[in-house]
Amino acid sequence: MYSIAFFVAIILFASCKETKKEEGMKEDTAPKSETTVETNLKESDFDTEIDGKPVKLYWLKNGDLQMAMTNYGGRIVGLWTPDKNGKMTDVVIGRGSTQAYVDGPEAYFGATVGRVGNRIAKGKFKIEGKEYSIKPNNNANALHGGENGFQDKVWEANQPNDYTLELQYVSPDGEEGFPGELDAKVTYSLIDDHTLKIKYEATTDKTTVVNLTNHSYFNLNGEGSGTILDHKMQIFADKFTPVDEGLIPIGELRAVEGTPFDFTSPHTIGERIDADNEQIKFGGGYDHNYVLGSKRENAMNHAAKVIGDKSGIVMDVYTKEPGVQFYTGNFMSAKNSLKSGARDDKRTAFCLETQHFPDAPNQPDFPSIELKPGDTYHTVTEYTFSVK
Ligand code: BGC
Repeated sequence: MYSIAFFVAIILFASCKETKKEEGMKEDTAPKSETTVETNLKESDFDTEIDGKPVKLYWLKNGDLQMAMTNYGGRIVGLWTPDKNGKMTDVVIGRGSTQAYVDGPEAYFGATVGRVGNRIAKGKFKIEGKEYSIKPNNNANALHGGENGFQDKVWEANQPNDYTLELQYVSPDGEEGFPGELDAKVTYSLIDDHTLKIKYEATTDKTTVVNLTNHSYFNLNGEGSGTILDHKMQIFADKFTPVDEGLIPIGELRAVEGTPFDFTSPHTIGERIDADNEQIKFGGGYDHNYVLGSKRENAMNHAAKVIGDKSGIVMDVYTKEPGVQFYTGNFMSAKNSLKSGARDDKRTAFCLETQHFPDAPNQPDFPSIELKPGDTYHTVTEYTFSVK
């Protein structure tokens, strides 16, 4: 009896591993060792209730990769990985309490962004001939799912083991103006090879639009360690989507070659960030979507490699998404206090938001973000940390 159960378990384990390999992903395995991090974070500063739902601070660990999250906005509060001297370094900037996130003014620190990440021109779009309208919250346009996007929602959290957090949010039909009840599930896990894997899934009961991402602001030298201008950046994209003054794509895929947007070979972020270039001026620096080459459908593409100049921490980003928004914190202006006591000074963090292209619902030549009843939205992004 025991041996039959044992063999069944082996077969199940083997077939499960094969599925993961087919998807080209790394295997989830249990943590190997424990390393403590120095932090001011206190669970009691996160414990509260919003809209009658419990909000908490959660810790995820896999050896010396560790992460703090809150289910308020599905946020990464901090992410610790060893630097070149083995010192645990917090590479995602975050705040010290739930109340600080509620108060803002920055809404998106570390957040799970949706229902539609990035901009929709004038907040208007059509689905199956019917016009929908999202209230503009970024000048004339809608940004990151409207005024009260997923970053403001309390996600239902389940922690099946100490390296995984499953989050679920059911967005009602009509929320922020989007059609259909959207059942969104996002799983954050720290898997082997120092990798944070984020798996996004969603279903709907009416045709809708979906573009989920994570809006972590990274500083690979550590939160509060100055600007990110000397970080070395490489983005594996030979085109980007140029924008108008309101940061809405003009519909063109433009070659990066010969422009300050060319990161196909490594450059420091700061080298050309203030270049005399119309696109740079519109963004106040980099705030643009890069077009990632897809070798095959559903493949994980290597989107970017970033190196912290002081820490030697390397972050590689892989994604199934066709684009990535490279944002260099141009609008940061020391208005928010961070968990380390530092403030969010201009360009002290960068974002790499994996995504479908901005304004996709109004751009017929961009990959579609429509989701129909019966279909499942499914995408994965991984961030792998190492040192150089
Ligand atoms: C946008 C920026 C915006 C930031 C807000 C980014 O995704 O591209 O323009 O200021 O989000 O945090």
